[in-house]
Amino acid sequence: MTGAVPGALTGPVLSDIQIGGDPLASPHLLPPARRHPATVAEFAGLAHAIAADRGSWAPLVRYDPVSRWYHRLRTGPGYEVWLLSWLPGQGTGAHDHGPSSGVLTVLEGGLTEHSGTARRVLGAGAQRVVAPGRAHEVVNDALVPAVSLHIYFPGLTEMPMHAGARGDAAVLSGVPVCRAATGTGRGSGGRAVGRA
Ligand SMILES: [Fe+2]
Repeated sequence: MTGAVPGALTGPVLSDIQIGGDPLASPHLLPPARRHPATVAEFAGLAHAIAADRGSWAPLVRYDPVSRWYHRLRTGPGYEVWLLSWLPGQGTGAHDHGPSSGVLTVLEGGLTEHSGTARRVLGAGAQRVVAPGRAHEVVNDALVPAVSLHIYFPGLTEMPMHAGARGDAAVLSGVPVCRAATGTGRGSGGRAVGRA
């Protein structure tokens, strides 16, 4: 025996949009767009957006024959964006970022990252996310200069150097912060905190 169940609804099944209307047509109902990134994916997206806006960083790039060069490109609540240049042979030494997470994006040229026994060659456009306390070493072992973008969240307050090279786990010492007032400087030597 077939037939309608007493009390059951009949007729086509409607979607939520058909019932409630398109939420995109009612912008006052949408959550406000965040002005600043707050997740790893959003920081990676910010790096991609800056990388694509070449005019915002390319004219600022300088090269320093003594050490890799860096410039604070942008700041936001709880994060900093740094522009770095690397002449062939310049590198960081093995280090970690203390409590900061980092997103490294290669803008020009290529960099090589060593982390533990892993070796990664990063070409233009490549990104790496570095977790707090994770040791790595970055070097330009190509024959041409490289430019990279680094976002730290929270902002980098220490960059402990590690013994040996290629991500050796033994921490040598904590390097205290001494930021250049202009947010521009060299990446090693003295008491300045290098970046990468
Ligand atoms: Fe680093």
